[in-house]
Amino acid sequence: MRGSNRSQRPDSAAFKAFITSGWAPRRTLDVQTSPAASFAAARRAALSARFPGTRLVVPAGPLRVRSNDTDYRFRPHSAFAHLTGSGWDTDPDAVLVLHPVEEGAGDPAGPDDGARTAHHAVLYVRPLAARDTEEFYADARYGEFWVGARPSLDDVTTATGVEARHVDGLRDALAKDVGADGVHLLVVTGADEGVEALVEAIRAEAGLDSEATATTSDQQLTEAEWLERAQAMFRRTDAALVEAVSELRLVKDAYEVEQMRAAVDATIDGFAQVVRTLPRALEHRRGERVIETTFDAHARLEGNTVGYETIAAAGEHATTLHWIRNDGVVRSGELVLLDAGVEVDSLYTADVTRTLPVDGEFTDVQRRVYQAVLDAADAAFAVAVPGARFRDVHAAAMEVVAARLEEWGLLPVSAAESLSPEGQQHRRWMVHGTSHHLGLDVHDCAQARRELYLDGVLEPGMVFTIEPGLYFKADDLAVPEEYRGIGVRIEETCW
Ligand code: GLY
Ligand code: MN
Repeated sequence: MRGSNRSQRPDSAAFKAFITSGWAPRRTLDVQTSPAASFAAARRAALSARFPGTRLVVPAGPLRVRSNDTDYRFRPHSAFAHLTGSGWDTDPDAVLVLHPVEEGAGDPAGPDDGARTAHHAVLYVRPLAARDTEEFYADARYGEFWVGARPSLDDVTTATGVEARHVDGLRDALAKDVGADGVHLLVVTGADEGVEALVEAIRAEAGLDSEATATTSDQQLTEAEWLERAQAMFRRTDAALVEAVSELRLVKDAYEVEQMRAAVDATIDGFAQVVRTLPRALEHRRGERVIETTFDAHARLEGNTVGYETIAAAGEHATTLHWIRNDGVVRSGELVLLDAGVEVDSLYTADVTRTLPVDGEFTDVQRRVYQAVLDAADAAFAVAVPGARFRDVHAAAMEVVAARLEEWGLLPVSAAESLSPEGQQHRRWMVHGTSHHLGLDVHDCAQARRELYLDGVLEPGMVFTIEPGLYFKADDLAVPEEYRGIGVRIEETCW
């Protein structure tokens, strides 16, 4: 009923009879099996192995209100996209459920071997409403007249390879056999509050605590026993599922790498277009917007959209790490920093940064800072090999940064002292980290355990950024004037 106080839609029986009749049979949609479907099946199999006997709930998420009866453009939760292989065209409110079944009686573990998992996946979706319903013509949020025809249950199964059922059956399906001695229920939180509330209600009805935790009152246990019990209890919490779906994405499969390469290629083309538009940016009162909109238009044309808000920062704005207002002037003689990525239709994103002299020529001090950042990136790339630790990449970049700052006389201590944990003065001019995993989210795998992320070991298939920078704010009295207002970042993808 959103916006109903201004609705002028007729309510007469004659109108209803007329608008719901006289339609040709629905055209069958030309639905193909997604190239991601078999990869998504393998990802579900890996998740299944981590949670035997547990029902796993992965919501796509609802539409989110922008204001009144207007919603934001829908994007499914990344865990849902990963585990179904669905992209931008997923419908809101869908829920993927992995139902526990007997060991070996579930879905195939992979396309080639005969092994089977211990879960059966079902997608609960809202199928297309019939034309004799009010939803057809009167529902601005879901109706075919307003947002177009949704796929049928069969279409969903064809596209994903997953059995599809009506979302109306979700509650009963989630509640089946749930109990202390029965099935446990876990939900990926942060995607859909309604589904989370439903899971909570089912747990409460079944007499299950929502948060089981080990307590230190288990005094009689040895430390190892206590730890084992705590871990077993943790595996029964939603946080464990959130962690697992994040960690599942640390190593990308062949489909993901292909999609991310396409995202990077499209992003490179977008940067080339921005360079061609710099003369226009110099003339416009909001030159940064010329840069932003050139890139964003390209992202919409060639992909789904941008993977995060484009940062188009001229001059001293480049010293604000996430400058997304992008309303500044672009002046001759300045550097301009562009941090942007195309998100392709499968929802994988690139994340690239370049810092360019607007007129094509660096000043001496701009070149000095730029070269230091480039050398830091090169040093980081040199150590980013399988077997190295993720944190070593950052350390390699920081060694170069600290050495250059010492050379320029900017550090109040030696580079060695600054690099020690007690020092870190060099971080005044680069407060962010050097790397983050990249994928469906620009900051991918953010819920992975520290021992697998920051303290983790690099493996083939991991995709992450290397993005050192140096940022001297315009009012930084700790540096000579010539450095003030210069911000440089260079960001590349490490495969
Ligand atoms: N490119 C934006 C970020 O990594 O935070
Ligand atoms: Mn980044």
